[in-house]
Amino acid sequence: MTETPVCRRLVGRTAVITGAGSGIGLATARRLASEGAQVVCADIDESAGKAAADEVGGLFVRVDVVDPEQVEALFKTAFDTYGSVDIAFNNAGISPPDDDSILTTGLDAWKRVQEVNLTSVYLCCKAALPYMRRQGRGSIINTASFVAVMGAATSQISYTASKGGVLAMSRELGVQFAREGIRVNALCPGPVNTPLLKELFAKDPERAQRRLVHVPVGRFAEPEEIASAVAFLASDDASFVNAAEFLVDGGIAGAYVTPL
Ligand SMILES: NC(=O)c1ccc[n+]([C@@H]2O[C@H](COP(=O)([O-])OP(=O)(O)OC[C@H]3O[C@@H](n4cnc5c(N)ncnc54)[C@H](O)[C@@H]3O)[C@@H](O)[C@H]2O)c1
Repeated sequence: MTETPVCRRLVGRTAVITGAGSGIGLATARRLASEGAQVVCADIDESAGKAAADEVGGLFVRVDVVDPEQVEALFKTAFDTYGSVDIAFNNAGISPPDDDSILTTGLDAWKRVQEVNLTSVYLCCKAALPYMRRQGRGSIINTASFVAVMGAATSQISYTASKGGVLAMSRELGVQFAREGIRVNALCPGPVNTPLLKELFAKDPERAQRRLVHVPVGRFAEPEEIASAVAFLASDDASFVNAAEFLVDGGIAGAYVTPL
């Protein structure tokens, strides 16, 4: 039997992950820890975040990513505990049902999604950068989405706009800080098989099919497949990957006609 090679690219690195209690964030906490990183699991959900931190031998910090003081405190705690901030995976995000077509989405729903998905990334980058500049090293990975690069007739208008903002902001930061040893990339996952999505599509197979037909590989991603891309971007293997629109989407954004 061949053994899976153990990848240990992140030994001695400190990673801060927002939204670490669930989905992509949780899978990434596991993956980065398995590669040797010290992981700070940040989440607004205390029990999920703490469970993630306990599982990976990391530190839990409860944070609401829209609160500037809490975000500052998160990165300070990471630095004070482990002595560096090498990786920031700014990933927490929401996709609430009242964010829908522009025709029906109210201003409150619009603003809430902008705050949690976009303003939070601004706050996290602003808080992480001073540590990384002092170190002369750092990798920031901001979770955008494939919807930042293509349109959907099944609109979530504020979500899509927020992810477009994350993409543009990441590009700009990647360019601005490139000569200080800091890389900033936007991760653009395709649809991921999260519990919520599974439940939604189990109830409504037609809804799933409408989307699956556009995915060349014919399935949604598993959170671990997104986590492995984050591990790559976080590591020195990605030393020349910067300011990128890093699509991990099974080919959706490249497709016109998909296989039958
Ligand atoms: N699931 C997908 O199909 C998909 C596709 C593309 C992009 N994304 C993006 O990936 C990221 C993670 O998505 P997921 O599917 O893993 O979601 P998820 O709902 O499984 O996990 C999100 C986590 O973020 C936390 N969170 C929410 N609001 C917060 C706040 N204000 N402060 C701190 N933590 C907060 C939640 O408690 C939760 O643990 C999001 O930014 C999402 O938009 C998801």
